[in-house]
Amino acid sequence: MSIPFYRPRRLRMNGFLREAVAETQVFKHNLMLPLFVADNDKPEPIGAMPGVSQHSIQSLCDEIEGLVEKGLRSYILFGVPPKKDPKAAGATDPDGIVPRAIRAVRERVGKEAFIATDVCLCSYTDTGHCGVIENEDVANDPSVELLALTALAHAQAGADMVAPSDMMDGRVQRIRETLDEHSLSHIPLMSYAVKYASALYGPFRHAADSAPQFGDRRGYQMDFRNRREAVREALLDAEEGADILMVKPGLAYLDILSDLREATELPLAAYQVSGEYSMIRFAAQADAIDEAKVVRELWTSFRRAGAQIILTYHAAEAVRQGWLDG
Ligand code: PBG
Ligand code: ZN
Repeated sequence: MSIPFYRPRRLRMNGFLREAVAETQVFKHNLMLPLFVADNDKPEPIGAMPGVSQHSIQSLCDEIEGLVEKGLRSYILFGVPPKKDPKAAGATDPDGIVPRAIRAVRERVGKEAFIATDVCLCSYTDTGHCGVIENEDVANDPSVELLALTALAHAQAGADMVAPSDMMDGRVQRIRETLDEHSLSHIPLMSYAVKYASALYGPFRHAADSAPQFGDRRGYQMDFRNRREAVREALLDAEEGADILMVKPGLAYLDILSDLREATELPLAAYQVSGEYSMIRFAAQADAIDEAKVVRELWTSFRRAGAQIILTYHAAEAVRQGWLDG
């Protein structure tokens, strides 16, 4: 008689058992799709992100209407304005590209779609920086004032949630105050709390036309060598009134997500960013990987590490092709 040993394979024996003991699931309601909208006549494909376009307001409404029918309910809008200037006037404009897009989407699908907006200045400044420049540097507090007005314009146009992505200090508190002062205390705020200065944002900067014209974003986005600092950033945003905390990028930052899961009770979001999308997409186009399976596996890793919400450009393809069905 040999000594008995535990056999983990017993619970992997058939599909029913595997389902029954699975610890983590990804559902459509966990996904949030980023969409770009510009003053275009028709959608402009983004070369670095096959399958993703810079929408016109018309094609944005068509896209959301079609995807809502497939069960995808949650979106985050990025505006690409026709003009840029030093003070990011297009960002705070109540008739800017994002407020107009929100109103058009509302008219088309009502409350069937949950519309969050990215709140930042980098697509609107002539420098491509996430804040305004004073004394050759991105000026924190003046930028925060503009970000608060931007969030206000989005919320007043009917956004369901605002999501500041700029990484200025104190912006969550200022945005929260501004919304509250304007009877918008019911609007949730999802903070890009832990956003690293990452080369994985490369394709996005084509899509949003937001590449910095000088320098880089390391003066305000986080240094990817730092792990403990992420918890400090996240807890600060929680204290300032954030309702959801995001970690960005996704795949290379699962340790951070897992740390935040321990450090806070707030819901967490993971952003699978443009470079992650493009790497998967191009590998799939070269037939090197099975796109649906790779994407499902990576999404599951975000859920396992502690995220409720996954921002992902693959959400559209996933619901069209039924990647999460069955
Ligand atoms: C703007 C913003 C960026 C992303 C989301 N909001 C770019 C940046 O900070 O340079 C990145 C999204 C992506 O790469 O998919 N502040
Ligand atoms: Zn920005």
